[in-house]
Amino acid sequence: MFQTEVLDLFSPLACQKAAELLVDGHLVAIPTETVYGLAADAKNKSAIAKIFEVKQRPNNHPLIVHIAGAFELDLWAVNIPKMAYTLAKAFWPGPLTMILYKAAHVPEEISGGLPTIALRVPNKPQLLDMMHKYKLGLVAPSANLHKKLSPTEAKHVYKHLYGLIPAVLDGGSCSVGLESTIIDLTQGKPTILRQGPITKKDLEDVLHCEVAEPKVHHIAAPGNMHIHYQPYTKSYLVASEEFEGIIKDTHNKNSGFLHYDNFESLTGSWQAIKLEKNAEEYASLLYSSLHYLDSLEFKAIYIQAPPLEPQWKAVQDRLMKATN
Ligand code: TXA
Ligand code: MG
Repeated sequence: MFQTEVLDLFSPLACQKAAELLVDGHLVAIPTETVYGLAADAKNKSAIAKIFEVKQRPNNHPLIVHIAGAFELDLWAVNIPKMAYTLAKAFWPGPLTMILYKAAHVPEEISGGLPTIALRVPNKPQLLDMMHKYKLGLVAPSANLHKKLSPTEAKHVYKHLYGLIPAVLDGGSCSVGLESTIIDLTQGKPTILRQGPITKKDLEDVLHCEVAEPKVHHIAAPGNMHIHYQPYTKSYLVASEEFEGIIKDTHNKNSGFLHYDNFESLTGSWQAIKLEKNAEEYASLLYSSLHYLDSLEFKAIYIQAPPLEPQWKAVQDRLMKATN
């Protein structure tokens, strides 16, 4: 049992402390632009084992290795296609994870027994400086318990993992707010394994070739399971046309609401959160809104179904899983 300490990402001394904990084989929750990660030194097998224990995550689920820059790609991967460098140039540091063939030294514990490795450069300059200075590659799944909502603020991590880890590095709210897009570069065609902030179109514009986005994956990827990203409160996705009716039936009956259109009966209601009808802005506040509504311990949360346009795909994916 730890007395979890909150360390400030913007204080060099606090960053040093976080780095020393990691070098000593402890777990530290770290801020990234997508969601908070539960980090361990990627070269330390016993530290990696702690991640699975704390998260209660099945150990065949592979982890993303966070690196300080594209110049470290060949420390972790082999047979790297040119495409990987093109994508790195366009999107790193940023919310894109690439699947490549792993180098021989990469432990099974990271890759879940697969011949591949997931790599990403998070967009947090202070974190990258720390990783570079201490030569740390960091495995970091989202810092939530298995199947629960990802954290986008240090306080979400603190609430759910207090006592289980020695420290949270607090870098404020995550600006992107949804987990990275995962692209597999080991198939014939680049293939999206997890929808995220970088869309198929973004990728195709840079690669000048078609990017596949299959519906079903055979790889053990928790983000692809049906139940994932769930609030504790039972949550329902409701078509826009039916939302007004649901409000009438359930308002003031111990329910929370998340919506983007105007519903007169919800104006000023403490039970409702209205987000912008803009995919990026909506995504950046989605998890924190759900964490908040969840903390009010309603009997149910009703969520207005997002628009069907392609820029909403990652949001659609997370909401389908949150309400499954
Ligand atoms: O934005 C993010 O990606 C966040 C932040 C912390 O970087 N991390 C994150 O990690 O979402 P996690 O563990 O919650 O999700 C990682 C996903 C899982 O779905 C896992 O199965 C997949 O990456 N993955 C990891 N290695 C893989 C591999 N070699 N092949 C296929 N999928 C892989
Ligand atoms: Mg996760």
